[in-house]
Amino acid sequence: MTTQTPPNVQAADAEGIAQAARVLEAGGTVAVPTETVYGLAARADSAAAVAAIYRAKGRPDFNPLIVHVPDVVAAERLAQFDSRAQALAAAFWPGPLTMVLPRRADAPLAAAVTAGLPTVAIRVPAHPVMRSVLASAGLPLAAPSANRSGGVSPTSAAHVAASLGARADLILDGGVTSQGLESTIVALRPGSGWEVLRPGPVTEADIAAVIGGAADVLTLGAARIEAPGQLASHYAPGKPVRLGALTAESDEFLIGFGEVAGAISLSSSGDLIEAAAHLYACLHLAAAASEPRIAVAPIPDNGIGIAINDRLRRAAA
Ligand code: TXA
Ligand code: MG
Repeated sequence: MTTQTPPNVQAADAEGIAQAARVLEAGGTVAVPTETVYGLAARADSAAAVAAIYRAKGRPDFNPLIVHVPDVVAAERLAQFDSRAQALAAAFWPGPLTMVLPRRADAPLAAAVTAGLPTVAIRVPAHPVMRSVLASAGLPLAAPSANRSGGVSPTSAAHVAASLGARADLILDGGVTSQGLESTIVALRPGSGWEVLRPGPVTEADIAAVIGGAADVLTLGAARIEAPGQLASHYAPGKPVRLGALTAESDEFLIGFGEVAGAISLSSSGDLIEAAAHLYACLHLAAAASEPRIAVAPIPDNGIGIAINDRLRRAAA
């Protein structure tokens, strides 16, 4: 028996960022903190590098990935921006909004990044570590959440190390992420239709306030394009999860919120922003607890609570 290779965790200082750039240029994978969750990054222009992401995650299927770029100028090399896309970029980038836009024919992207779709998902992240890595590498980076396929998304370097171990060539430790939930994904359809494919920190109301109208699901009358990675199993903590719980059964680990105390709480003051930031860390703790079941207190379905309830429903499915 060989001993297991330990995870390669480095501080996200100048030396760590320079090392990350070298690993990425060589086609390797680096786990990097973003303001939402840790991403497992690889250069988006290389089929081999993108394949290394799927191998490290153990992802059986080939879902399209989000491409991270430093600014709108870099984004416009990959996708066609109409006036709505420009307005959303001005309002929410850098930040936790991903836009699905028509892919430019000459975009330097490996085919696996877009999984054969005519569109590409792009985001300009706000986290200083991810921004430094993008600047040093000088490449668009594909990055799904840095966890084994089917697991709970990581909001700390320790979560990444526990899930991926040495399968990531490098893990940059930039502390705990601030928002805690994956970015909102909005698809802008040609014409006027748009649709939120994945709720997140930027709400549908925030988007409507900038580009007008309600999310218009059926404008095209075409087959609805889903975010294929949004399967229930993508957030599974590995135990049954009961939602809307006011008290714990004897075999349950209760995650509280507000008045419902629980074994731990998403936010004892009932603050939804704080609850979003704590959600995955609480699910990781609940997964590791001795109780065979997890229960979660009711979460109000407004603001970022919509995204929290979306992830909880998937965790419970
Ligand atoms: O916050 C985030 O967005 C994190 C951090 C690391 O940036 N990233 C993330 O990436 O969550 P990932 O790969 O786990 O999620 C990508 C989602 C999937 O649900 C995928 O199906 C969808 O985006 N997606 C990607 N490209 C798409 C496209 N062209 N059309 C529709 N959905 C797309
Ligand atoms: Mg994920």
